[in-house]
Amino acid sequence: MIMKQSGLLRIFIFTCTILLISIGYFIYVYNTYPAIQENESVLGEIGEGLGELGLWGLVFIYGRTCLKILLGKGKIAKRLVPDYSLDINITIINKLLHYLNKTHIYVGITTIAVILLHITFMGIPMDILFFPAVLALVIWQGLFGLFLTWRYSPTQLKKLSYLVHAQLITGIMIGIFAYFGHLLIDD
Ligand code: HEM
Repeated sequence: MIMKQSGLLRIFIFTCTILLISIGYFIYVYNTYPAIQENESVLGEIGEGLGELGLWGLVFIYGRTCLKILLGKGKIAKRLVPDYSLDINITIINKLLHYLNKTHIYVGITTIAVILLHITFMGIPMDILFFPAVLALVIWQGLFGLFLTWRYSPTQLKKLSYLVHAQLITGIMIGIFAYFGHLLIDD
Protein backbone atom coordinates (compact mmCIF):
# COMPACT_ATOMS: atom_id res chain seq x y z
CA MET A 1 0.00 0.00 0.00
CA ILE A 2 1.39 3.41 -0.95
CA MET A 3 0.94 5.96 1.82
CA LYS A 4 0.18 9.50 0.73
CA GLN A 5 2.99 11.64 2.05
CA SER A 6 2.02 14.81 3.83
CA GLY A 7 3.56 18.06 2.61
CA LEU A 8 5.57 18.39 5.81
CA LEU A 9 6.98 14.86 5.49
CA ARG A 10 8.02 15.59 1.90
CA ILE A 11 9.82 18.75 3.04
CA PHE A 12 11.53 16.75 5.79
CA ILE A 13 12.72 14.07 3.34
CA PHE A 14 13.88 16.75 0.89
CA THR A 15 15.81 18.56 3.66
CA CYS A 16 17.53 15.34 4.79
CA THR A 17 18.51 14.52 1.18
CA ILE A 18 19.96 17.99 0.55
CA LEU A 19 21.77 17.80 3.91
CA LEU A 20 23.35 14.43 3.08
CA ILE A 21 24.45 15.53 -0.42
CA SER A 22 25.88 18.77 1.03
CA ILE A 23 27.79 16.95 3.80
CA GLY A 24 29.26 14.58 1.18
CA TYR A 25 30.27 17.44 -1.09
CA PHE A 26 31.62 19.43 1.89
CA ILE A 27 33.90 16.52 2.88
CA TYR A 28 35.08 16.22 -0.74
CA VAL A 29 35.90 19.95 -1.05
CA TYR A 30 37.46 20.08 2.43
CA ASN A 31 39.89 17.33 1.48
CA THR A 32 40.73 18.42 -2.06
CA TYR A 33 40.64 22.24 -2.22
CA PRO A 34 43.07 24.61 -0.51
CA ALA A 35 41.48 26.51 2.42
CA ILE A 36 39.61 29.64 1.33
CA GLN A 37 41.04 32.72 2.98
CA GLU A 38 38.66 35.40 4.19
CA ASN A 39 38.93 38.73 2.34
CA GLU A 40 40.51 41.04 4.97
CA SER A 41 40.38 44.27 2.90
CA VAL A 42 38.02 47.19 3.63
CA LEU A 43 35.65 45.89 0.94
CA GLY A 44 35.79 42.49 2.63
CA GLU A 45 34.82 44.06 5.97
CA ILE A 46 31.89 45.88 4.35
CA GLY A 47 30.98 42.63 2.61
CA GLU A 48 30.89 40.84 5.95
CA GLY A 49 28.43 43.37 7.37
CA LEU A 50 26.28 43.01 4.26
CA GLY A 51 26.29 39.24 4.72
CA GLU A 52 24.84 39.66 8.22
CA LEU A 53 22.23 42.08 6.90
CA GLY A 54 21.28 39.57 4.17
CA LEU A 55 20.87 36.88 6.79
CA TRP A 56 18.49 39.13 8.76
CA GLY A 57 16.55 39.77 5.55
CA LEU A 58 16.10 36.03 5.07
CA VAL A 59 15.07 35.64 8.74
CA PHE A 60 12.39 38.32 8.18
CA ILE A 61 11.18 36.71 4.95
CA TYR A 62 10.98 33.15 6.21
CA GLY A 63 9.77 34.33 9.64
CA ARG A 64 6.69 35.59 7.82
CA THR A 65 6.28 32.23 6.06
CA CYS A 66 6.63 30.33 9.35
CA LEU A 67 4.10 32.61 11.02
CA LYS A 68 1.64 32.01 8.20
CA ILE A 69 2.12 28.24 8.48
CA LEU A 70 1.70 28.43 12.25
CA LEU A 71 -1.55 30.34 11.88
CA GLY A 72 -2.68 28.08 9.01
CA LYS A 73 -3.00 31.11 6.71
CA GLY A 74 -2.15 31.37 2.99
CA LYS A 75 -1.54 28.85 0.21
CA ILE A 76 1.71 27.39 1.57
CA ALA A 77 -0.04 26.52 4.85
CA LYS A 78 -3.01 25.03 2.97
CA ARG A 79 -0.58 22.90 0.96
CA LEU A 80 1.60 21.76 3.86
CA VAL A 81 -0.95 21.43 6.65
CA PRO A 82 -4.33 21.34 4.89
CA ASP A 83 -6.44 20.37 7.93
CA TYR A 84 -4.84 22.79 10.32
CA SER A 85 -5.72 26.30 11.31
CA LEU A 86 -4.99 28.08 14.56
CA ASP A 87 -8.03 30.00 15.58
CA ILE A 88 -6.43 32.72 17.60
CA ASN A 89 -7.19 36.34 17.22
CA ILE A 90 -4.30 38.05 18.89
CA THR A 91 -4.21 41.55 17.46
CA ILE A 92 -0.48 42.00 17.80
CA ILE A 93 0.30 38.82 15.83
CA ASN A 94 -2.16 39.75 13.09
CA LYS A 95 -0.71 43.25 12.98
CA LEU A 96 2.81 41.84 12.73
CA LEU A 97 1.78 39.53 9.88
CA HIS A 98 0.02 42.37 8.09
CA TYR A 99 3.17 44.47 8.39
CA LEU A 100 5.39 41.61 7.16
CA ASN A 101 3.03 41.02 4.21
CA LYS A 102 3.06 44.69 3.26
CA THR A 103 6.83 44.96 3.40
CA HIS A 104 7.71 41.60 1.79
CA ILE A 105 8.48 43.02 -1.67
CA TYR A 106 10.78 45.74 -0.29
CA VAL A 107 12.50 43.42 2.17
CA GLY A 108 12.83 40.87 -0.69
CA ILE A 109 14.43 43.32 -3.15
CA THR A 110 16.75 44.72 -0.46
CA THR A 111 17.79 41.24 0.68
CA ILE A 112 18.63 40.18 -2.87
CA ALA A 113 20.64 43.37 -3.52
CA VAL A 114 22.49 42.99 -0.21
CA ILE A 115 23.32 39.30 -0.83
CA LEU A 116 24.57 40.10 -4.36
CA LEU A 117 26.82 42.85 -2.98
CA HIS A 118 28.01 40.53 -0.22
CA ILE A 119 29.05 37.93 -2.82
CA THR A 120 30.79 40.59 -4.96
CA PHE A 121 32.68 42.21 -2.07
CA MET A 122 33.83 38.98 -0.48
CA GLY A 123 35.34 37.63 -3.73
CA ILE A 124 33.84 34.22 -3.19
CA PRO A 125 35.36 31.32 -5.23
CA MET A 126 32.68 30.23 -7.66
CA ASP A 127 34.29 26.87 -8.45
CA ILE A 128 32.97 25.57 -5.13
CA LEU A 129 29.42 24.70 -6.07
CA PHE A 130 27.78 25.87 -2.83
CA PHE A 131 28.36 29.50 -3.84
CA PRO A 132 27.04 29.60 -7.42
CA ALA A 133 24.09 27.52 -6.19
CA VAL A 134 23.19 30.17 -3.57
CA LEU A 135 23.69 32.92 -6.15
CA ALA A 136 21.44 31.17 -8.68
CA LEU A 137 18.72 30.48 -6.09
CA VAL A 138 18.67 34.09 -4.87
CA ILE A 139 18.41 35.41 -8.46
CA TRP A 140 15.73 32.77 -9.15
CA GLN A 141 13.65 34.02 -6.17
CA GLY A 142 14.05 37.62 -7.28
CA LEU A 143 13.15 36.95 -10.90
CA PHE A 144 9.95 35.06 -10.13
CA GLY A 145 9.09 37.53 -7.36
CA LEU A 146 9.30 40.27 -10.00
CA PHE A 147 7.14 38.34 -12.50
CA LEU A 148 4.66 37.81 -9.69
CA THR A 149 4.32 41.52 -8.94
CA TRP A 150 4.82 43.02 -12.40
CA ARG A 151 1.42 44.29 -13.54
CA TYR A 152 2.00 43.32 -17.18
CA SER A 153 2.80 39.65 -16.46
CA PRO A 154 0.32 37.39 -18.27
CA THR A 155 -1.92 35.34 -15.91
CA GLN A 156 -0.17 32.07 -16.81
CA LEU A 157 3.23 33.53 -15.98
CA LYS A 158 1.88 34.85 -12.68
CA LYS A 159 0.55 31.41 -11.78
CA LEU A 160 3.85 29.76 -12.66
CA SER A 161 5.77 32.44 -10.78
CA TYR A 162 3.71 31.88 -7.64
CA LEU A 163 4.25 28.13 -7.89
CA VAL A 164 8.00 28.60 -8.26
CA HIS A 165 8.49 31.54 -5.89
CA ALA A 166 6.36 30.42 -2.92
CA GLN A 167 8.39 27.29 -2.11
CA LEU A 168 9.99 26.53 1.22
CA ILE A 169 12.49 24.21 -0.43
CA THR A 170 14.25 27.15 -2.11
CA GLY A 171 14.87 28.70 1.31
CA ILE A 172 16.02 25.35 2.73
CA MET A 173 18.56 24.99 -0.09
CA ILE A 174 19.78 28.60 0.29
CA GLY A 175 20.26 28.02 4.04
CA ILE A 176 22.05 24.66 3.77
CA PHE A 177 24.32 25.62 0.84
CA ALA A 178 25.25 28.97 2.40
CA TYR A 179 25.97 27.32 5.75
CA PHE A 180 28.31 24.65 4.37
CA GLY A 181 29.92 27.17 1.99
CA HIS A 182 30.74 29.43 4.93
CA LEU A 183 32.15 26.50 6.91
CA LEU A 184 34.82 26.22 4.20
CA ILE A 185 36.04 29.79 4.69
CA ASP A 186 38.99 30.23 7.03
CA ASP A 187 38.66 33.11 9.47
C1 HEM B 1 15.44 36.46 -1.21
C2 HEM B 1 14.32 36.95 -1.70
C3 HEM B 1 12.93 36.40 -1.50
C4 HEM B 1 12.51 35.28 -0.84
C5 HEM B 1 13.37 34.27 -0.08
C6 HEM B 1 11.06 35.21 -0.97
C7 HEM B 1 10.24 34.20 -0.45
C8 HEM B 1 8.87 34.15 -0.58
C9 HEM B 1 8.03 33.10 -0.06
C10 HEM B 1 8.55 31.86 0.68
C11 HEM B 1 6.73 33.40 -0.38
C12 HEM B 1 5.45 32.60 -0.09
C13 HEM B 1 5.21 32.34 1.31
C14 HEM B 1 4.92 33.51 2.13
O1 HEM B 1 3.82 34.04 1.98
O2 HEM B 1 5.78 33.91 2.91
C15 HEM B 1 6.74 34.64 -1.09
C16 HEM B 1 5.61 35.27 -1.59
C17 HEM B 1 5.64 36.37 -2.41
N1 HEM B 1 6.75 37.07 -2.78
FE1 HEM B 1 8.66 36.71 -2.23
N2 HEM B 1 10.63 36.29 -1.70
C18 HEM B 1 11.75 37.03 -2.06
C19 HEM B 1 11.77 38.18 -2.83
C20 HEM B 1 10.66 38.74 -3.45
C21 HEM B 1 10.69 39.84 -4.36
C22 HEM B 1 11.97 40.57 -4.77
C23 HEM B 1 9.41 40.09 -4.74
C24 HEM B 1 8.86 41.12 -5.67
C25 HEM B 1 9.51 42.02 -6.30
C26 HEM B 1 8.54 39.12 -4.08
C27 HEM B 1 7.17 39.03 -4.23
C28 HEM B 1 6.35 38.10 -3.63
C29 HEM B 1 4.90 38.04 -3.78
C30 HEM B 1 4.05 38.99 -4.63
C31 HEM B 1 4.46 36.94 -3.03
C32 HEM B 1 3.02 36.41 -2.91
C33 HEM B 1 2.14 37.23 -2.10
C34 HEM B 1 2.48 37.20 -0.64
O3 HEM B 1 2.51 36.11 -0.04
O4 HEM B 1 2.76 38.28 -0.13
N3 HEM B 1 9.34 38.32 -3.30
N4 HEM B 1 8.05 35.08 -1.21
